[in-house]
Amino acid sequence: MREIRGAVIEAAGRPTSIETLRLDDPRPGEVLVRMTASGVCHSDLHVRDGDWERPGPIVLGHEGAGVIEAVGAGLDPSVVGRAVALSWYAPCLRCRECQRGRQWLCQGSPSLRHRQADGTTRLERADGSPVLAYLSIGTFAEAQVVPATAVVPMPDGVPPEVAALIGCGVSTGVGAVLKTAEVPAGSTVAIIGLGGVGLSCVMGAVLAGAGRIVVDVSRAKLDLAGELGATHWVQADPSNPQATVDGIRGAAGDGGPDFVFEAIGTPTTIAQAVAALPPGGTAVLVGLTRFGEVASFEPFPFVDGGRRILGSNYGSAVAAIDFPRYADAYLAGRLPIERLIDRRLPLDDLEDAFDRLRAGQAARQVVVFD
Ligand code: APR
Ligand code: ZN
Repeated sequence: MREIRGAVIEAAGRPTSIETLRLDDPRPGEVLVRMTASGVCHSDLHVRDGDWERPGPIVLGHEGAGVIEAVGAGLDPSVVGRAVALSWYAPCLRCRECQRGRQWLCQGSPSLRHRQADGTTRLERADGSPVLAYLSIGTFAEAQVVPATAVVPMPDGVPPEVAALIGCGVSTGVGAVLKTAEVPAGSTVAIIGLGGVGLSCVMGAVLAGAGRIVVDVSRAKLDLAGELGATHWVQADPSNPQATVDGIRGAAGDGGPDFVFEAIGTPTTIAQAVAALPPGGTAVLVGLTRFGEVASFEPFPFVDGGRRILGSNYGSAVAAIDFPRYADAYLAGRLPIERLIDRRLPLDDLEDAFDRLRAGQAARQVVVFD
């Protein structure tokens, strides 16, 4: 048992407060990780702002990296001291989807319940009341006990902030391009929304050898995407959605881009992604909407033109295989993940970071721990 500081919300839609909590020792199948960095992702903000119902009280954060401090009984203690990235979807390794290698679709993951595999949590308040960990890893905390299947060792030389981003935004965006959509070299790709996820789609499109068009309301985001290798850009005017569609089609030529990645999660931008497709084109939905939201499109040209829509969760990531690959690509200079980071902050400034993210002003902000 030790004391740690973590960012707790009482329930979805409530602000975070930094609390001192008690963290129990790891049990069999669990690992104690001292956190080194945790990115601030829009999926935390969805919970913070009440877009998604989640149980509470809960420590937020799901884009984390750290160092292994201890392991539960039965695990190899030689891993203590290893730098790791954390997967926010700990696979059970037993269900049908895990057995067929689609761990991002695992149906038995403890992450679905924000608890450890035995259904309990290792965190409590001073009065002994339990506190959950978002997606079983709750990375806005100085340390956490997490499922061993969420822990992926990183190669030497990967900075904590980069490892953290591999844990969510990078895997989600790069994987959407390379794994979910399997974009062929020479394709034309458009990316709508340039937060940490959309900018990672841009890096994925560069790796795939595809031409890329980027769309955002923010001029600064378009400039950053240009530095990452975007070839054309469209500055979106939310009051004129059709102009964005026309801009994407015009920049792509040939009637529109082969692929459009939507990395925001609003009905309007999802409809734009579908509307910008030429016959045979594919829209890849990466952004997550508020619960219950509905997007629409006209089915006749969609069916007549043989278009496709793919949903991409976590970039179809198999963390144990894909995280080290993305880390190697970073070390080889082919995935400039550090360019996405525009602010490092202490845990105490988390609410301010959420304010900037909500206003669309941030690329990736990362909480760093001493
Ligand atoms: N048109 C174009 N761009 C827009 C629009 C719009 N109508 N509205 C917002 N944007 C841009 C913002 O300027 C910002 O750059 O979309 C981007 C969204 O980025 P972030 O808020 O940083 O979100 P991110 O963390 O990248 O996550 C994106 O993926 O995993 C999901 O839950 C996550 O739904 C979220 C999405
Ligand atoms: Zn995320």
